Amino acid sequence: MKIAMIGTGYVGLVSGVCFSDFGHEVVCVDNNPAKIEMLERGEVPIYEPGLDSLMAKNVEAARLTFTRDLPTAIDGADAVFIAVGTPTRRGDGHADLTYVMAAAEEIAKAAKHYIVIVTKSTVPVGTNRKVREVVAAANPALDFDVASNPEFLREGAAIDDFMKPDRVVVGVETERAGKVMEEIYRPLYLREFPIVTTDLESAEMIKYAANAFLATKITFINEIAALCEKTGANVKEVSKGMGLDGRIGKTFLHAGPGYGGSCFPKDTKALARIGQDYASPVQIIEQVIKINEDVKRRMVDKLIDLCDGSFNGKTIAVLGVTFKPNTDDMRDAPSLTIVPAMVGGGAKVRVTDPQGRREGEHMLPGVEWCDDPYQAAVDADVLVLLTEWNEFRALDLGRIAELMRGKKMADLRNVYTVEDARAAGFTAYESVGRTGKAAM
Ligand SMILES: NC(=O)c1ccc[n+]([C@@H]2O[C@H](COP(=O)([O-])OP(=O)(O)OC[C@H]3O[C@@H](n4cnc5c(N)ncnc54)[C@H](O)[C@@H]3O)[C@@H](O)[C@H]2O)c1
Repeated sequence: MKIAMIGTGYVGLVSGVCFSDFGHEVVCVDNNPAKIEMLERGEVPIYEPGLDSLMAKNVEAARLTFTRDLPTAIDGADAVFIAVGTPTRRGDGHADLTYVMAAAEEIAKAAKHYIVIVTKSTVPVGTNRKVREVVAAANPALDFDVASNPEFLREGAAIDDFMKPDRVVVGVETERAGKVMEEIYRPLYLREFPIVTTDLESAEMIKYAANAFLATKITFINEIAALCEKTGANVKEVSKGMGLDGRIGKTFLHAGPGYGGSCFPKDTKALARIGQDYASPVQIIEQVIKINEDVKRRMVDKLIDLCDGSFNGKTIAVLGVTFKPNTDDMRDAPSLTIVPAMVGGGAKVRVTDPQGRREGEHMLPGVEWCDDPYQAAVDADVLVLLTEWNEFRALDLGRIAELMRGKKMADLRNVYTVEDARAAGFTAYESVGRTGKAAM
């Protein structure tokens, strides 16, 4: 199969590289010249474990190329995937479909033969039908089908998720398009990964419903964590006890500083808007969005308390600012609420993150960047563990405490215990949902 992939972001690049590894001929397109130049030099513009070597392997095998020129990419292609961004539209919470529709129009103008136009971007119900209308209007003579193929990969584990998915969802309207999609995913069919073939609307809805459910699960445990703090229960024990119930499951049950990232915040908002538009409000998601903001604010309050009532004049070391470990993605990270609150409150903030600096430097003005946790801890009054990178899971806490001026720690990912902190010489230790009997 010959495939064109429009957009070389976290989803487009990983999908393009993995499809080429399936043996397909893939051309990746991006309208950002800097990205294409980097890719042509063999450099990966994002941090995603394992992506550089898999990309190099497939470029070497001449199955994977990059271009800025969309018409060249779709010339002779069996399918073209749209994997461009669908950020929150400013002002109203809807998914902004400008990039998707622009890509659809460009495809329509350049296509000369039968092609399946596949939307991989996360898009509201009804978008694939609109894509079909846009393409038909721009090129009435074109023979084409549309397909919905939402992506479920997780940044940080994206290659494994793509190669060994829990399921692939394909929404199609015709047998012909279904056959093309089957051929593209043949390696996964052969290995018996579940493929859910359905209609366009259901495929579109599955993606939003799945993300909204996961955001709800995180938000649920974050609310339980707040209650644990009042009642003396330990949320880690509660999560474990709940998660062992097969009907509940243990993933996405870790209390923390609120969900963030490039998907959950925008997809929950978009789903809430879709519900309102159809006069069928998704009230649970409307609450989840609100509670997640409260969770982030609660973290700020917790930190102010730890700073004796004010950030002013304090030096705070922050470990981790990306929205989760193993990615450089900073979009909607809780750090973007918490760190500016510290800086705005008059604190001197020293930040370290294994991959977050490139993005973080312009998103977190006024902070000082450090190479590692030990450098960040020098003369700090408070240490805040914000993103649970592996590098931060086995710190020499004794050394950290010695380097600090104050001996206070806020562990917003519950990586350590009060006993660890006490043994290391900390005099105050805060975490999430464990301030009852576990308090110092
Ligand atoms: N990031 C994730 O973990 C993830 C997971 C599942 C689904 N998604 C969805 O996938 C979509 C893409 O997300 P992302 O994180 O990869 O976005 P991204 O912002 O990282 O990448 C989008 C890319 O598309 C390019 N682009 C935009 N318009 C273009 C055009 N007309 N022609 C060529 N290139 C164009 C941009 O330059 C950019 O490089 C979104 O809808 C998102 O919701 C993302």
